[in-house]
Amino acid sequence: MAKYDLIIIGGGPGGYVCAIKAGQLGLKVACVESRAKLGGTCLNVGCIPSKALLHAAHQVHEANTNFSTLGIDIAKINVNWTQMLKYKQSTIDANTSGVEYLFKKNKVDWLQGAGEIVETGKVKVGTKVYETKNIVIATGSVPSELKGIDVDEKSIVTSTGALELKALPKSLAIIGAGVIGLELGSVYAWLGTKVTVLEYLDRIIPGMDLDVAKTFEKILKKQGLEFKCGVKVVNVKKGRGAQEISYEDSKSDTILKERAEIVLVATGRRPFTEGLGITNVGVKLTPQGQIDTDNKFATNVAGIYAIGDVISGPMLAHKAADEGIAVAETIAGLTGYVNHEIIPSIIYTQPEVAAVGRTEEDLKEAGIDYKVGKFSLKGNARAKSVMQADGFVKILAAQDSDRILGCHIISPAASDLIQEICLAMEFGASAEDVALTSHGHPTYSEAVREAALACGDGPIHA
Ligand code: NAI
Repeated sequence: MAKYDLIIIGGGPGGYVCAIKAGQLGLKVACVESRAKLGGTCLNVGCIPSKALLHAAHQVHEANTNFSTLGIDIAKINVNWTQMLKYKQSTIDANTSGVEYLFKKNKVDWLQGAGEIVETGKVKVGTKVYETKNIVIATGSVPSELKGIDVDEKSIVTSTGALELKALPKSLAIIGAGVIGLELGSVYAWLGTKVTVLEYLDRIIPGMDLDVAKTFEKILKKQGLEFKCGVKVVNVKKGRGAQEISYEDSKSDTILKERAEIVLVATGRRPFTEGLGITNVGVKLTPQGQIDTDNKFATNVAGIYAIGDVISGPMLAHKAADEGIAVAETIAGLTGYVNHEIIPSIIYTQPEVAAVGRTEEDLKEAGIDYKVGKFSLKGNARAKSVMQADGFVKILAAQDSDRILGCHIISPAASDLIQEICLAMEFGASAEDVALTSHGHPTYSEAVREAALACGDGPIHA
């Protein structure tokens, strides 16, 4: 059997991108994936299906809230959930088959099955053992379990089950006001489900700028989501037709109850390393259970690397893909590099939320002198013309040099707007550099420029 230069374990955005890049660099490469389709969590049960459902459900929300103002009269909106799920599946299929095509094009062998490292340079898939000079572990993450809650993926679900519900529920309780909770909460709230979000902390979207969290919570409440913050869910009891959630309320110090037809557990994810054989070769883990790597993604075992959700850093598909490219380059003898300081994070609700770099809370804690340039979408013509003027762009820049340190956006298309600032930060740009750049009119991106102006002489439309 031919010896590979590289075997990647895991065919998600980290693994498959790494495989394609390695193929392009002329390495003999294989990717081990046990799912029936390539693309990992992101393409099969994560980013892609959730975006398809968010898109479909948002059309319903628009029809219910804005159509009559726009001069569109429709007699009755009928949600065909079965068809919506079919549409979701078609977007998954289009993306996963695209990866399969790219594997063939770049001469990547797909070894179907679960991969186990039996010894250094040897990966077992099914009954076969393949030899390789290098191994990249890209096995991703799985939802974290919560004590006292038995997920059955039917009435008590993780994001996987929430993307496959048999029927639209009347009520949905979501444990955790993080990215998954708020994206899927939006889908169901827009489709008419009563959504209640129970969050341990006294705020939503921990880790993101507090200013953004406060405005975002108000916007989501207007869309029908209900929030109970400062509560710790301790258990969920299954009942016929409704599940009973018990939670500790930090304000009253009492145990309260909430009932809902479906419960979504969205309290984070943990690295997935089970059955991988890392103990066979002595790969070191961090105390958090992540694979310990250096800045070249190398583990403590020569020839074994790891990338993506299974190592430290934000659990984001694009971060994994960036690391996949970098590690393929390193293995091919080039210089692979990822700037972990400039990785955007995005919540694909409507409006979208996007952020890069430091938050105000970070900067205060680090004792860095900064200035704030903030611009409300109420002054943005494009946002007003499409009735989406709730939100803002906030740029944080160094007080002395004006260099951009962070940017936080709530806006339609925030996911795309943030890229301008990512690029600016990569180039070490100042807020003034962005302010001096011509921005098309009428675009949402003018709000980014106005926020940059607000760091200096002041915005025009405020
Ligand atoms: P998360 O870490 O974003 O949020 C989990 C929330 O659950 C936290 O706010 C936490 O305080 C709360 N929580 C924990 N235990 C609790 C309890 N007992 N009672 C009440 N609240 C409790 O995790 P999430 O949303 O599950 O997402 C997992 C990962 O997937 C994240 O790393 C996220 O970045 C990633 N992801 C990214 C997406 C994107 O980029 N758009 C979309 C979906 C997931």
